[in-house]
Amino acid sequence: METVGQNNQADANSQEIIVLKNMTKKFGKNVVLDNISLSIEKGKTTVIIGPSGCGKTVLIKHMIVLLRPSSGEVYFKGQRIDNLEEHELNTIRTHYGFLFQGGALFDSLTVTENIMFPVRQHYKVTNHTGVDELVKSKLAMVGLDGFQNYFPAKLSGGQKKRVALARAIALNPDVILYDEPTTGLDPIRSDVINELILKLQKSLGLTSVVVTHDITSAYKIADRIIMLHEGKIIADGNTDYIRNHPHPIIQQFIKGEVSEDDLAVLRMDGNIFKSQFLPSDFQG
Ligand SMILES: Nc1ncnc2c1ncn2[C@@H]1O[C@H](COP(=O)(O)OP(=O)(O)OP(=O)(O)O)[C@@H](O)[C@H]1O
Ligand SMILES: [Mg+2]
Repeated sequence: METVGQNNQADANSQEIIVLKNMTKKFGKNVVLDNISLSIEKGKTTVIIGPSGCGKTVLIKHMIVLLRPSSGEVYFKGQRIDNLEEHELNTIRTHYGFLFQGGALFDSLTVTENIMFPVRQHYKVTNHTGVDELVKSKLAMVGLDGFQNYFPAKLSGGQKKRVALARAIALNPDVILYDEPTTGLDPIRSDVINELILKLQKSLGLTSVVVTHDITSAYKIADRIIMLHEGKIIADGNTDYIRNHPHPIIQQFIKGEVSEDDLAVLRMDGNIFKSQFLPSDFQG
């Protein structure tokens, strides 16, 4: 049987840049991802939505093998990557940009040093004119040229996210994985990030995978929306498909409604713990 060879060839020639096959992830007995199969299309923006704790971050960490599956396989451009050694993975990871949840910059490093961080991880940097040009071009992409020598403490939340985005594109990746890129930003600053995601996709042809709670953002940027629930994909389609999906869990999620189960817990008042101590008991 030449199934593997045939598959690899098919993957390499197709528009599928990342493929997850029958992937399960358990932490102890906790099955977080339950036999997920998914292909990410090249040059498109795929958005992953779902309630807190449903496994969105765990899912995209597998796409770059920051986590390894309990069973199943991960492919990048037709090559199986979930079983590679760390040093081999490092080479694969130069094709990815990753905007972590929280988008943390290194506080003790300037904007320039933050952007150069992934570059220095992979290359010995000796050309300082090259550094200036690279950083300038990446900052220009996110509208922050001129902020090279700032420390993160001097930047607003939205500016920090944009610097993190400039850092994510430092190595000219093929794919960017965004984990909650708009969380904590007001609607206008969120929309700046949405526009940047779209701009990077259009101008650089990047493939984007975006995890978000922000349904407005999802509708704006997605070519395709995938909803995860209890370790499985429960819907996968374009914006209209998701918007009109009859599944009550999907409707509750996109409308931001609390489920009856959650309301029942909130309404419970029998178990409220009554403290025997009053604040005054702690004085003197
Ligand atoms: N390293 C780990 N070890 C053990 N359990 C983990 C680990 N990482 C995640 N989990 C568990 O996996 C589940 C999914 O976590 P994950 O962070 O992917 O959720 P999420 O969908 O990204 O949630 P949120 O929207 O709040 O970011 C949770 O139950 C979490 O406790
Ligand atoms: Mg998460």
